Amino acid sequence: MKRRILNFLLLLFAVGALGQTPEIIGIETKDMAMVFTAKPNEMATFQYWGSKLNANAEFASRGFKGQPDTQQDAAPQLFPAYGGRHYLNPALRVTHEDGVITTELVYVSSQKTQLDENRTETVIKLKDKLYPLFVDVHFIAYKAENIISEYVTVFHSEKKPIVIANIASSYIPLHADSYYLTHFYGTWAHEMQMKEEKLTPGTKTIESKKGVRATQSENPSFLLSLNNPASENVGEVYGGSLAWSGNYNLSFEFDESGVLNVMSGMNPFAAEYQLKPGQIFKTPEMILTYSSTGKGQISRNFHDWSRRYALAHGDKLNPILLNSWEGAYFSFNEKTLTDMIDNAANFGIEMFVLDDGWFGNAYPRNGDNAGLGDWQVNAKKLPRGINYLADYAVSKGIRFGIWIEPEMVNPESDLAKKHPEWIVKSGKRDILPMRNQWLLDLSNPQVQDFVAKTFDDVLAMSPNITYIKWDANRHVDNVGSEYLPPNEQTKFWYEYVKGLYNVYERIRAKHPDIEIQLCSSGGGRLDFGALKYHDEYWASDNTNALDRIFIQYGSNTFFPAQATAAHVSTSPNHQTGMITPLKFRFDVAMAGRLGMELQPTDLKGDEYEFAKKGIECYKQIRPVVQLGDLYRLVSPYDENGWSSLMYVSKDKAQAVFFAYSLKYHARTAYFETKMNGLNPDRNYKITELNTRNGQTSFYGNGKVYSGDYLMKVGISLNIGNPFDSSVLLVSEI
Ligand code: GLA
Repeated sequence: MKRRILNFLLLLFAVGALGQTPEIIGIETKDMAMVFTAKPNEMATFQYWGSKLNANAEFASRGFKGQPDTQQDAAPQLFPAYGGRHYLNPALRVTHEDGVITTELVYVSSQKTQLDENRTETVIKLKDKLYPLFVDVHFIAYKAENIISEYVTVFHSEKKPIVIANIASSYIPLHADSYYLTHFYGTWAHEMQMKEEKLTPGTKTIESKKGVRATQSENPSFLLSLNNPASENVGEVYGGSLAWSGNYNLSFEFDESGVLNVMSGMNPFAAEYQLKPGQIFKTPEMILTYSSTGKGQISRNFHDWSRRYALAHGDKLNPILLNSWEGAYFSFNEKTLTDMIDNAANFGIEMFVLDDGWFGNAYPRNGDNAGLGDWQVNAKKLPRGINYLADYAVSKGIRFGIWIEPEMVNPESDLAKKHPEWIVKSGKRDILPMRNQWLLDLSNPQVQDFVAKTFDDVLAMSPNITYIKWDANRHVDNVGSEYLPPNEQTKFWYEYVKGLYNVYERIRAKHPDIEIQLCSSGGGRLDFGALKYHDEYWASDNTNALDRIFIQYGSNTFFPAQATAAHVSTSPNHQTGMITPLKFRFDVAMAGRLGMELQPTDLKGDEYEFAKKGIECYKQIRPVVQLGDLYRLVSPYDENGWSSLMYVSKDKAQAVFFAYSLKYHARTAYFETKMNGLNPDRNYKITELNTRNGQTSFYGNGKVYSGDYLMKVGISLNIGNPFDSSVLLVSEI
């Protein structure tokens, strides 16, 4: 009898639940939508992410993809915590004050705010069924750019601190027949190498545990193509990039029902975080985008968004500069530099950047073994100081920039002797130097003050310093902080990055106009979290043009060309020994933010004049390269041994086309490609630029073609030898 009553009650309950329509929460941009359904006190369901729908109403009468509403348990959650029947990688795992290690999040409410004409914020509020633990999942939709940025805030009013074992920034469940993951791996001087792989059941993880230089080995960005390998112009592709400069973890868990569970966020490794009652914990933002027309659009979405929201001065053109590093390294005096400035001005270069080696007196920075931390000008090398050099540059009509590495210290420095407690170390354990240097503990507010003051003091050396190159040349090992309490050492990873961002914030508030380059032994800190405070990034210490084609290809999948510092260096190349023509080196660097990094007097014969012309040429195409839309035409990873791309101005009136030969091709082989991104109904004149000795590679040079022809029939170029290259200006007439 009792059982019958119970069954009857259960039925009533189920009918009641069925009767109640779930709330449909849609997050929409111009072309894309993410949809969740939720009922108060029940788990919220992740329903959909893809092309924008005509209407979202149908979700109300359906469970997940047509399943009955009562199957809620099996549906992917909006933000699955460890607890209940969630056996997969959790988005949140917490130990409550009483030692309970499970959490079950249910829906409370949601709220939408129009931030401005382009941005809408949706906050979905969840809470634990039992404990006063609250999780807000935030989505900011950027309408025009088709970007959604997602992050999470957590707080609680349990009696004692809780411990967050892991917390993701975003969770995305996808369902398709197969999944192709593209990710970018590498090492020093070999960053952002592309790898695409078909995922199999199990979990593929991309992560860093290095704390600083966290993107040198793997970038926290990915492309995910459904059912087929990603191609430029067709197919469903998802893109994600974590805006975080510390340890991260992206996991792709292909589960037993064929769903791919994509979890992105900070790395939970050795990173338990004690959260006090009332304290709010905020995760980094995960930047997400989707395209139904291939990965080319994914890159253009990221670039547009970055130039508007995650790059300093993203609407301005970046200057052409000469950097002193590969031309002088640590050995220079005032004359070496003023000679370089003279040459730079003569080339038409717009800024001179004095790299490493200018500071330290008691411990002079004559090599990488001393001086870091002592940010006073070396009076022996530069007796008239930085101001003299900066004024000198300005008197020659060019700007002046300078290098710093303020998070670091050499054991051989005044700073290391004065503040041993500021150095990251595991208690009494020896700290191994890396590049002869140690890391300062940015979780400590005093160190944050020191780093911010270093920036101010360096700028104060001359009103004519208008550019800073900020470097960071080691990562974290034997982690530990004298500032954090012994039982909270695992907070270090989070607090270091927060400390760094705090410094960036302060600097930006005080010096909004200064241009800053993001560098970490090359591209060791390449993520949107850091990039938003910077004007550009140094993609790699490898300046060899052939390698740069691959590094720039990878970097520009997510980060815009405008921000990609690309320098012409000497030949043979200092990193690889490879000999390449000067034209090739220019043509590769011109596809990013062109600069030079060599001793100008090393240019031989007509090279000097050629360089001058190259710089002039770049000035002509710079607005299109830096502010236009990128269309990749031929990947350097294709077997044919060519690579090609183009930038098209937003109004489609101008385009700049680049093509490179990466190897020897048969004499009869011509490089052929179709253009992209032009207006089929307009006519364009093609002019070959940056030619050497009047040699052209395109027989149609100077002729007019329709956009339709260029995109359907294409062009053919005579660039068959290794390191042949071609730059074409495509101008509407
Ligand atoms: C790093 C940077 C280089 C250069 C050197 C100076 O390696 O990536 O560009 O600034 O440091 O020491």
